[in-house]
Amino acid sequence: MLAREPAPLIVRPARAEDLERITWLEDAAFEDSWPRDLLDYELTHTRTFLLVASRGDDLPLPGYVLFHHVAGEAELLRLAVDPPERRQGIGRLLVEHGLERLRQTNVRVCFLEVRMNNEPAIQLYKGLGFQRVGRRRGYYRDGTDALILSLSL
Ligand SMILES: CC(C)(COP(=O)(O)OP(=O)(O)OC[C@H]1O[C@@H](n2cnc3c(N)ncnc32)[C@H](O)[C@@H]1OP(=O)(O)O)[C@@H](O)C(=O)NCCC(=O)NCCS
Repeated sequence: MLAREPAPLIVRPARAEDLERITWLEDAAFEDSWPRDLLDYELTHTRTFLLVASRGDDLPLPGYVLFHHVAGEAELLRLAVDPPERRQGIGRLLVEHGLERLRQTNVRVCFLEVRMNNEPAIQLYKGLGFQRVGRRRGYYRDGTDALILSLSL
């Protein structure tokens, strides 16, 4: 019998049944992870969209991204990829899909905050054209500064 090809990776809007896995990914990625209730709220918020990477409904989702937008401006609020699945282009693909969706909704600019020592994320965002526009000192609970990045769409 021929070995089955791995299913291609797609990016699609998150569904209610993805919430458990998204909460798991959130906990695996962040010390200050968002609770399930908040992620659930974001899933149905009209100004928010949550996208997931998927290889099929019977396989665990490798990552997700969450954007909020209002009055032509957006913010990338969360992005996480399952640790063993990192460095395969999944994070970049998720953000690219989100940015394209923002362009289609006439959003002009996207901002985000990132820990100033989060080199993987900073490199990913810079590779997509984000530029540093500010810094918030002691922004995170452990005292780490946040860099503010932005991208004109
Ligand atoms: C940041 C994160 C989402 C990246 O996801 P990923 O799927 O591994 O990223 P990609 O494979 O798409 O990488 C895209 C680019 O980002 C940069 N990058 C990613 N991981 C990196 C690392 N460990 N070191 C340096 N650069 C890295 C590289 O430029 C990479 O391009 P390349 O592989 O062609 O060199 C992932 O590391 C993660 O979930 N981290 C924990 C949560 C987090 O920090 N989220 C961001 C909060 S602002």
